Amino acid sequence: LVTVREIYRDTEKYLNQKITVGGWLRSVRDSKTFGFLVLHDGTFFETLQIVYHDKMENFAQVSKLNVGAAVIVTGTLIPTPEAKQPFEIQADEVVVEGASAPDYPLQKKRHSFEYLRTISHLRPRTNAFQAVFRVRSLTAYAIHKFFQERDFVYVHTPLITGSDCEGAGEMFQVTTMDLNNIPKTEQGGVDFSQDFFGKQTNLTVSGQLNGETFAQAFRNIYTFGPTFRAENSNTTRHAAEFWMIEPEIAFSDLKDDMILAESMLKYVIRYVMENAPEEMQFFNNFVDKGLIDRLKHVVESEFAHVTYTEAIELLEKNNDKFEYKVSWGCDLQTEHERYLTEKIFKRPVFVTDYPKEIKAFYMKLNEDGKTVAAMDCLVPGIGEIIGGSQREDDYEKLLARMNELGLKEEDYGFYLDLRKYGSTRHAGFGLGFERCVMYLTGMSNIRDVIPFPRTVGNCEL
Ligand code: 4AD
Ligand code: MG
Repeated sequence: LVTVREIYRDTEKYLNQKITVGGWLRSVRDSKTFGFLVLHDGTFFETLQIVYHDKMENFAQVSKLNVGAAVIVTGTLIPTPEAKQPFEIQADEVVVEGASAPDYPLQKKRHSFEYLRTISHLRPRTNAFQAVFRVRSLTAYAIHKFFQERDFVYVHTPLITGSDCEGAGEMFQVTTMDLNNIPKTEQGGVDFSQDFFGKQTNLTVSGQLNGETFAQAFRNIYTFGPTFRAENSNTTRHAAEFWMIEPEIAFSDLKDDMILAESMLKYVIRYVMENAPEEMQFFNNFVDKGLIDRLKHVVESEFAHVTYTEAIELLEKNNDKFEYKVSWGCDLQTEHERYLTEKIFKRPVFVTDYPKEIKAFYMKLNEDGKTVAAMDCLVPGIGEIIGGSQREDDYEKLLARMNELGLKEEDYGFYLDLRKYGSTRHAGFGLGFERCVMYLTGMSNIRDVIPFPRTVGNCEL
């Protein structure tokens, strides 16, 4: 089969030639002696028009086909300079691979994203989701390409773990215990020693801690895999299962970390705009007007930088506009993040040096003793897309912080060892992959950039 992508990209080669294509029907229109099929073959954003005639012995069968049917068409590709589409196929033969029932849900009209979420097995056949999931695929490739070109080693960190990297306690437990008959210790607690791993385990919230061990052996590494958070927040930006990219760089500080993050984002934006122009045009026209110009501007300009303390001062002046009022020490909510990046800086912004109380245990304490060398990258339309930091590389300081927070030394012995044997300055960050895809496409709900989303109360398919 020739693909529609090949036909569009290398038209000269196929024009006036006999070719065979296969795909699914977007529409069927017939009159007495001829008819039109619009076929989408999944390889390219555009469709292909097919003209068929009653010379074909199965003319009646084809005319009765419903939208969604799968067909294989052989015919000649001819130019149609007067028509909307640049060419069409004059069919000699249409073989019905699989008919479609008349109740096919994707009839030729616009369906809402809410409705399409209820048919996540069929929505990849729509224009919008063709565009979303091709861009998602390209984005993943661009990210790997960026890091591989820079000799970063890709590390596969485990999904089942005994640690809580972010210390937020938002973990999905992993157990093989019979929940109706949980073994108890003498004190009455759950006896995890009888569980599969002999201890309490959970799905990972981040690959960072394992990633750091590889950075202290390879220097520059990255992870790219699924992470899980049982956050009970039903928002358009949170999923229970999402993918994260976590580079970790040795002999590097927070500045190096931000340079890496900024160049990665710019590289990925550029790559996707160059390699999915039809899809990006679609988003620009139908999802988020002005998207392409905005992304071009992002690629060409420098990201802004502001410390948390400065950001709070700027936000406090606008407290009347917020549901949650800010003051030094509070965590930034999405409304504050978006205000900073959309209204104050009007471009992506790095917020640095957060109070240690609102950040994870592993972040490097600044000289003021109050803030840590953290950075969040905020982008318009979304808010936080990246969270990162320089790591505490001092054994004593790390241990002290762990004790303050009640982290058990025996659970993090490996992590402390890194500070004991050849500790280096090092930093890293986590890019939320879905938020990155939202940013690139202008899609406003995380459920619409994940093939089969898992969110609070929803685990379909
Ligand atoms: O800021 P977070 O929690 O940072 C970490 O996990 C660090 N271990 C990263 C590191 O330094 N190696 O998460 C990183 C990013 C966020 O900025 C956000 O984009 C995304 O992960 N994220 C989520 N995306 C979708 N759904 C959720 N529930 C998310 N939680 C975080
Ligand atoms: Mg964060």
